[in-house]
Amino acid sequence: MLKGKHIVLGITGGIAAYKSVTLLRLLVKRGAEVQVVITPSGKEFITPVTLSALSGKPVICDFFTANTGEWHSHVDIGLWADAMVIAPATACTIGKMAHGIADNMLVTTYLSAKAPVFVAPAMDLDMMAHPSTTANLALLRSYGNHIIEPAEGELASHLTGRGRMEEPERIVEVLDEFFSRKQPLAGKKVLVTAGPTYERIDPVRFIGNFSTGKMGYAIADAAARMGAEVTLVSGPVSVKASEKGVTTEHVESAREMLASCQKAWPETDIAIMCAAVADYAPANPSGTKIKREGNEPPQITLVKNPDIAATLGAEKRPGQILVGFALETDSEESNAVKKLHSKNLDMIVLNSLRDPQAGFGTDTNKITIFRQGAEPLRFPVKSKREVAVDILDEIIKLH
Ligand code: CTP
Repeated sequence: MLKGKHIVLGITGGIAAYKSVTLLRLLVKRGAEVQVVITPSGKEFITPVTLSALSGKPVICDFFTANTGEWHSHVDIGLWADAMVIAPATACTIGKMAHGIADNMLVTTYLSAKAPVFVAPAMDLDMMAHPSTTANLALLRSYGNHIIEPAEGELASHLTGRGRMEEPERIVEVLDEFFSRKQPLAGKKVLVTAGPTYERIDPVRFIGNFSTGKMGYAIADAAARMGAEVTLVSGPVSVKASEKGVTTEHVESAREMLASCQKAWPETDIAIMCAAVADYAPANPSGTKIKREGNEPPQITLVKNPDIAATLGAEKRPGQILVGFALETDSEESNAVKKLHSKNLDMIVLNSLRDPQAGFGTDTNKITIFRQGAEPLRFPVKSKREVAVDILDEIIKLH
């Protein structure tokens, strides 16, 4: 379950940091990609050289590398992560995390992380039992963080009690169990369309639209993280899928997109039609560049493009799920419901161009989901990454 997962391993200044080396080795052995972020006092216990040799990546401690000036973006690391594990977590770091005291790279990364966070406390028994530690851990739990409870045993102080960091093998097991539960699409084949289509007028010009593909790519990545084998049929865009489970097929026109989708559809369990497909294409694209000089403005005759979603809807067999999108500027809800029925969809996701936080090019979206024979589900503004998870969670309920 950890294969290909992006794990941020946060190491703080406790004697149990020596166990982080074993934890790192186990994670790497299981196929995870690990980025170590260490606090300044963590480096007093374990050297970055050991950690970078084992992880295959430079260890991050500071906000920038002094000799090169290279800036380390805690936001990028936070977004890259599928999980963040802080092991060992000292009382000091737990307190900073609980109260947002972002004075080092580890805590800023924690505050930027969208992924689940696992905290493995390690400290002396009295520190562990102190009401402030108990209160801070309760705060972390209330933020949705997972606390990997420390074990009882002999501590660095030679006292015996509760405060030993959980063994690396057990921490890996906790992560493994977490990701198994988070893989509801394991064994499923998911087809996603994304981006615009370009319909050629001549070799240098086309009819297209403003779609950037961000929503479709976020869905493809999220489905792969949930364990699906994803085929992403994409029009021309500049974004890339980041998950290994996504196979991207690049196409240009609606007809090419249809051909790729029809090939994949018989084997597909769930298809999500996120592309902004051009409805019309020039009837007779010119093989050579249309010249300006001396010519009257050209008249471009258009022909209707195939409706990819409706074609798949007509060929849908029991058990297959087909989901569409509707980007509307007016009569949003009635237009969306009409498309749900006319294209034989199981679900349609509406976003309105009237909403400034939804639509082309934005990093956020605000959606309403319509299903056959059920009440609409309205969601608040969220990042496209979160919206992708909401959509997939609803699809899973249909399956
Ligand atoms: N769609 C498609 N093929 C097309 C047009 C649309 O597969 N030729 C899919 C889109 O990917 C989306 C859904 O159909 O999932 C609705 O797309 P939209 O452009 O909103 O609807 P249209 O049917 O094109 O209707 P209109 O442009 O008139 O609103």
